[in-house]
Amino acid sequence: MAYETLIVETHGAVGLIRLNRPQALNALNSTVLTELKQAYAAFHADDAIGAIVLTGSEKAFAAGADIKEMQALDFVEAYKNDFFSGWDEIAKARKPVIAAVSGFALGGGCELAMMCDFIIASETAKFGQPEITLGVIPGMGGSQRLTRAVGGAKAMDLVLTGRMMDAAEAERAGLVARVVPADKLLDEALTAAAKIASYSRTSVLMAKEAVNRAQETTLEEGLRFERRLFHSLFATEDQKEGMAAFVEKRKPVFKNR
Ligand code: CAA
Repeated sequence: MAYETLIVETHGAVGLIRLNRPQALNALNSTVLTELKQAYAAFHADDAIGAIVLTGSEKAFAAGADIKEMQALDFVEAYKNDFFSGWDEIAKARKPVIAAVSGFALGGGCELAMMCDFIIASETAKFGQPEITLGVIPGMGGSQRLTRAVGGAKAMDLVLTGRMMDAAEAERAGLVARVVPADKLLDEALTAAAKIASYSRTSVLMAKEAVNRAQETTLEEGLRFERRLFHSLFATEDQKEGMAAFVEKRKPVFKNR
């Protein structure tokens, strides 16, 4: 399928999506959202795909929601259409998504990266929530996901001042899982995604569900949830295969059953 704002490829069992609006530093307009939903849906429907990498260009992962598209929006229109709620579908992707971030990840760009399961950043990455400089606040989850990721002090600093933080600070703060040289970014993300895709799909999906649950519930409920998922994996052929392979000192062959 041909996209106007994305370049979509497959690398073995990994789906790669590149945001591709270079003239606007990959600003996220409604076409990007529509096409991202289509690309995600296609990869989710494809049993051959076990994980997704979402990336931008060297200069920008995405410099935010498209300000030019948003400029004329009025309150009633925004409220009636629950503007930006369409992004929830991207955040709810079931297959793991790695954000490979180089350059600017600002506003909606930072928020989109945070909708992914983890972020691998190049040394050139810059993260920020500059909405305050435009007379608004984050609207795609920044005030919530950033606060959960880096804590109240730093989230408040970034959201109130609109300043950017570099990759090293973002890693120290816990926003970013790994920082790599710019020329290694895509390889690192594709390799991590290929590793994830090589495991049993059922255990991968459940691992993601379990970690996500930690963000939303009490420790006691979370532990119960984790244990029930853990128990249920003993009903899969892949658990038998994974443990048999360990005991027999060979590589497991998961069949996603
Ligand atoms: N929306 C629309 N267009 C954008 C854009 C955005 N978020 N960010 C950059 N562009 C466009 C610029 O207008 C420019 O287009 P023209 O050549 O047609 O003028 C082009 O991309 C290149 O940008 P710059 O010339 O500004 O590039 P630079 O290297 O000098 O600066 C930058 C880079 C610091 C990222 C700067 O572009 C910038 O500050 N961008 C806006 C960042 C921002 O405020 N993001 C938050 C948006 S609001 C939001 O995201 C709401 C939310 O919560 C979801």
